[in-house]
Amino acid sequence: MTAPLIDPFARAIRYLRVSVTDRCDFRCTYCMAEHMTFLPKADLLTLEELDRLCSAFIGLGLRKLRVTGGEPLVRRGILTFFQAMARHLESGALDELTLTTNGSQLARFADDLAACGVRRVNVSLDTLDPAKFAAITRWGRLDQVLEGIAAARAAGLRIKINAVALKGVNEEELFTLTDWCAREGHDLTFIEVMPMGDMADRLDQYWPLTDLRARLAARFTLTDLDERTGGPARYLRLEETGQKIGLITPLTHNFCESCNRVRLTCTGELFPCLGQEQASDLRGVLRASDDPAVLKTAIRAAIARKPKGHDFDYSRQRVAGQISRHMSHTGG
Ligand code: GTP
Ligand code: 5AD
Ligand code: SF4
Repeated sequence: MTAPLIDPFARAIRYLRVSVTDRCDFRCTYCMAEHMTFLPKADLLTLEELDRLCSAFIGLGLRKLRVTGGEPLVRRGILTFFQAMARHLESGALDELTLTTNGSQLARFADDLAACGVRRVNVSLDTLDPAKFAAITRWGRLDQVLEGIAAARAAGLRIKINAVALKGVNEEELFTLTDWCAREGHDLTFIEVMPMGDMADRLDQYWPLTDLRARLAARFTLTDLDERTGGPARYLRLEETGQKIGLITPLTHNFCESCNRVRLTCTGELFPCLGQEQASDLRGVLRASDDPAVLKTAIRAAIARKPKGHDFDYSRQRVAGQISRHMSHTGG
C-alpha cells in the first residue's frame, strides 16, 4: 500500500470527497439559497481533469473516494467518471468508490453504478412526510427519492440514510425514521446541522444529538460500536432491532482529531477542512502542466496547510465559527 499523505497534525489523509457539480435539482434550506447563481461551464473541471486529479490523489495513498455535489448524478456524463474510477478499484489501489446523493436520479443510475463497483450509497433524507420533504428541499418530491432508493436496493447497493437532525422539523419522526430503516434494512445516520451558508433560523433548528441519543435510549438498549466507515460517524446498535445508527456530531462532540479527509470542488479548489475558508487552487496547476509530479507536489503543499479543525459553535445562544460558503459548494 502506498504511504499516506500526512497533515501537520499527524493525521493520515486517506479519503477524498470530490464534488463534481455545484448544481442540484433540490434547494434544501440548510444547504442552498433558493435562488443560486451557478458556475459557468468553463470554470468546471472536465471529466478528464477530474480523473487526472483523483488519480493523482490515489497515487498518493488515498483509499476512499466519495463523489458528491451539489447533486452528483445531475452532472452530464458522470457515469463516464465512475467507469474511469472503477479501474482503481480493480487494481486494488482504491478500497471504496461511493457517492452521497439526494436520491432523485438513482432509479436511472443504480444498475450502472453497481456495475462500476459502487457497493453502497448515502442518500440524504430527513423526513418521510411528503409535505415536510417538500418544505425542506423546496423543489424535491419524496416519491421520486423513495423510488430511487428502491432501485438502488434492487441493484444490490447497500443504503445509508443521512438525516440532518432538525428541531421542530423531524424531531417527532425519530422513531418513524428508525423503524422504517429497520424494516427496509437501511443504515441510518443523524447529522447535527452545521452553520454554513444562509444562517437564518439555524440556531432555532439545531437539535443536539446528545438529546436525540437520550430519546433513543428511552426506547432501545444502545451499544456503542468501535466500527468505523472511514467517515466522521460514530455508530451504535439498537439491541432490540439489531440496526446500526450513526451519529455525526461536529457540535456536541468534535471529531477533527481523527479527520482523514479533504474535499475537492468541481472547479478544482482543494478544501483541506470543511469548516474553514482556506483552499488551494489545483485547477491552475492542472492546466499549466501535464506533469503528474507537479500536480503531486501541489497536492502535498495543500495538505501541509490542513488546519486543526472547525470553529463551529452554537453555545452562548449565538452562532459562531460560521462559514459563508454553502454546503453545496464542497458537498459536505
Ligand atoms: P461514510 O463513508 O458512510 O462514513 O460517509 P461519510 O459520513 O463520510 O459521508 P457523507 O457524505 O454521508 O457525510 C455525512 C455528513 O457528514 C455530511 O453532512 C457531511 O457534511 C458531514 N461530514 C463529512 N465529513 C465531515 C468533516 O470532515 N467535518 C464535518 N464537520 N462534517 C463532515
Ligand atoms: N449541516 C449539516 N449537514 C448538512 N448537509 C447539507 N447541509 C448541511 C448542514 N448545513 C448534509 C446533507 C447531506 C450531506 C452531504 O450534507 O443533508 O446528507
Ligand atoms: Fe476534518 Fe475540518 Fe471536518 Fe474537522 S471540520 S473533521 S478537521 S474536515
